[in-house]
Amino acid sequence: MLYLSIESSCDETAVAVVESPDGKDEFRILSNVIASQVDVHAKFGGVVPEIASRAHIEAISSLAYKALADAGVTPEQIDRVAVTTEPGLIGALLVGVNFAKGFAYSFGKPLLGVNHIKGHVAANYLCGKVQTPFIAFVASGGHTSIIKASSYTDFETAGRTLDDAMGEAFDKIGRRMGLCYPCGAEMDRLASKGDPNAFKLPAVHMKDGSYNFSLSGLKTYIINLLNTAEMKGEQINREDVCASLTKNICDSVVYQLDRVLKENGIKTLAAAGGVLANSHLRKALTDYCGKNGVTLHVPPLSLCGDNGAMIAAAAKYEYEAGARSDMSLDGKPSSKDDWKSY
Ligand code: KG4
Ligand code: ZN
Repeated sequence: MLYLSIESSCDETAVAVVESPDGKDEFRILSNVIASQVDVHAKFGGVVPEIASRAHIEAISSLAYKALADAGVTPEQIDRVAVTTEPGLIGALLVGVNFAKGFAYSFGKPLLGVNHIKGHVAANYLCGKVQTPFIAFVASGGHTSIIKASSYTDFETAGRTLDDAMGEAFDKIGRRMGLCYPCGAEMDRLASKGDPNAFKLPAVHMKDGSYNFSLSGLKTYIINLLNTAEMKGEQINREDVCASLTKNICDSVVYQLDRVLKENGIKTLAAAGGVLANSHLRKALTDYCGKNGVTLHVPPLSLCGDNGAMIAAAAKYEYEAGARSDMSLDGKPSSKDDWKSY
């Protein structure tokens, strides 16, 4: 089966053509093209929703035809169309959803709307089978969730951030340090050169027995630290700040994942999302899983951020489980705990 899959929930327009036989956990990514808007938003220090919507409109059509050309397939050869419907920036989502609807209608193809977070988790399926049940941990610029997955389609939220997403915290702290948006990758590099014990920072896991996170306290703490130093005319070592905050985040992530894995008797962890590109977090999870007999799945760096192929991987299992969308398909800015497909 050939999937044309479209992702436009934030600031990357992404389209992929993925081949996967029904009933088999096998994938071939024939093309996976991304038009990033990072440079457009960088001067504002974050994503400007209206600019994102317009940039998606400008990119989507030619990008879809590039994905088809790179894959060497015609629109008629596509079997199924999949698109991210939620959560995300509503204007941005609508561009992908409407393009997918137009494509599906014009060429008479079945259509399926997919949850973006399920998509991030599904980036792991592209790399091999993930044993179920598993715990998924998704951390990106807009989302931070711990999920209990009893199958590739049945998800239940176990924990989430109560305020800022993990990538958002990296970006906002990084912006205050004068780094260029998105700041995560640069902070990762700075952290490698700093002392992780230089600053004692507030933990980002909730201490109420839940599996939730809260990052706004850490963000405010560090921004105050930087402001105070600036007012006193003191220099703060950015490498030490990055190393300390990264260690702090890694410790809290491992703390919550250890609890949720042990309390549910689950031995498989699938981590995903842009923040999982972080070398320190990848190492922390690899070390934890190695010591605790947990099988860890993390996508390669190229599939951590938003991409179209992950949407095809999620759509395949939803589709095979019977999910279908029709021309009433719409974008939804927030999906809360609603994991159903349309
Ligand atoms: O998954 P993604 O591409 O888009 C969303 O769905 O949000 O994630 C983007 C986020 C940004 O906040 C970016 O700063 C963060 O992922 N990020 C990182 C790293 N690379 C990207 N955060 C920490 N360390 C990194 N190496
Ligand atoms: Zn994402």
